[in-house]
Amino acid sequence: LTPTANGHHAGHMGSAALADATTVTFAPFTQRMPVPATLTPSQTTADTDIYTLPIRTAEAELIPGLRTPVLTYGGQFVGPTIRAEKGRRTQVTFTNELDRPTNVHLHGGHVSPENDGHPMDLIAPGQTRAYAYPNAQRASTLWYHDHTHGLEADHIYRGLHGFYLIEDKAERRFNLPEGAYDVPIMLRNAQFDENGALVFGHPDNRTTTLVNGKAQPYLPVAARRYRFRLLNSALKHVYQLNIGGVPLTKIASDGGLLPAPVEQTEVVVSSGERVEIVVDFAPHVGHGPLYLYDGENPILRFDVSPADGRDRSGVPDVLVPLPALAAATVERTVVMSMDMSLRPPIGLINGRPFDPNRVDIQVMQGATEIWNIVNADVSPFPFDHPFHTHLLQFQVLGRDTGPSLPEDAGLKDTVYVPPLGSVRIQMTFDTPYLGRYMYHCHFPEHSALGMMAQMEIIP
Ligand code: C2O
Ligand code: CU
Repeated sequence: LTPTANGHHAGHMGSAALADATTVTFAPFTQRMPVPATLTPSQTTADTDIYTLPIRTAEAELIPGLRTPVLTYGGQFVGPTIRAEKGRRTQVTFTNELDRPTNVHLHGGHVSPENDGHPMDLIAPGQTRAYAYPNAQRASTLWYHDHTHGLEADHIYRGLHGFYLIEDKAERRFNLPEGAYDVPIMLRNAQFDENGALVFGHPDNRTTTLVNGKAQPYLPVAARRYRFRLLNSALKHVYQLNIGGVPLTKIASDGGLLPAPVEQTEVVVSSGERVEIVVDFAPHVGHGPLYLYDGENPILRFDVSPADGRDRSGVPDVLVPLPALAAATVERTVVMSMDMSLRPPIGLINGRPFDPNRVDIQVMQGATEIWNIVNADVSPFPFDHPFHTHLLQFQVLGRDTGPSLPEDAGLKDTVYVPPLGSVRIQMTFDTPYLGRYMYHCHFPEHSALGMMAQMEIIP
């Protein structure tokens, strides 16, 4: 398998996009949206929860009545959710039961280089690998996924993705909706053939939206508040989520709770990003179903039934303050672009494709840096690129010469950069770890083509 020239706007790639536009038909809103099961530790010690998880092929019912061959964590197309408690360590032992190498990256995790799932640090078929996660960071919605160099897009597309939640006491005291009312929802798209097999073709042909691994499902909800942890695991898509004007109270982004809730009627989530909202269904009982829309496209139906008791949850006016911005001592420019003169095209960061043997930048432990992330792609190939960095979260200072957007709020590890746009971010490398970490475009088809670089944290 080699990286392919996917990930490009159809309008600029001629009819190639339409040529393989095979698709599947099904009755929407007939499957119930599942909530991925929480993984149970196989062992717990005084300070560590130990899990085991096989990586294996399976068949899953993504389209009603059809069986889709997929790659899975533990047999589930949305892998089991790992729930960690801040301050307690997690160890996950993965066994690669596939016929190809894989590895696991904890997206958003503050972990040592050996546990980060470096694209060249792989688990060979038949081998077992334990990853250790310290969970010393803020409570937040993270996710785990494959990061095999050149194959990450294919592997994630076929199902190697799951939630990893860090929780803590401080967050529980806020009295946000919890338990059955705290629901992780993974959004992504896919293309299927008429038999329900996944087609890994042109991104614009991925017209079926999967919500927790089901094509356009429904979710019964009670007339009360819910917390939804929304994750965009699509290889390439920007969701514009709304419930037809219903207020969405945004409470968290990639790195955890915001300083204060923000009322919005739409949230924008690019590939790799997370956003958390609280929705109150109480005013909507008895008025027929509501839909979660991507733009104008309904992707999930909510069936609202009367509440089964009093809703004691709420959203406080003040959540968790952001860390103070220290004065930056280093400024860098990171330019993302695609060289379309080659077949397949090559993804570039600062003019160079990924080279695992090259350290692109060195960063001093403890330093505060400002990076100007630039998307240099121009017409006729105006690609968008979500920028992601491993190891830590950053704050967005602004876009182009102006302020940031609502979706930039809070602590971020992934930020959308439109064609010819730029985003200024600031981060403090307040980390106990030294070594190499990735930064890259989070359209995995672009990182597979080379739009990835590595920084080395030095003392
Ligand atoms: Cu979600 Cu380097 O990736
Ligand atoms: Cu990109």
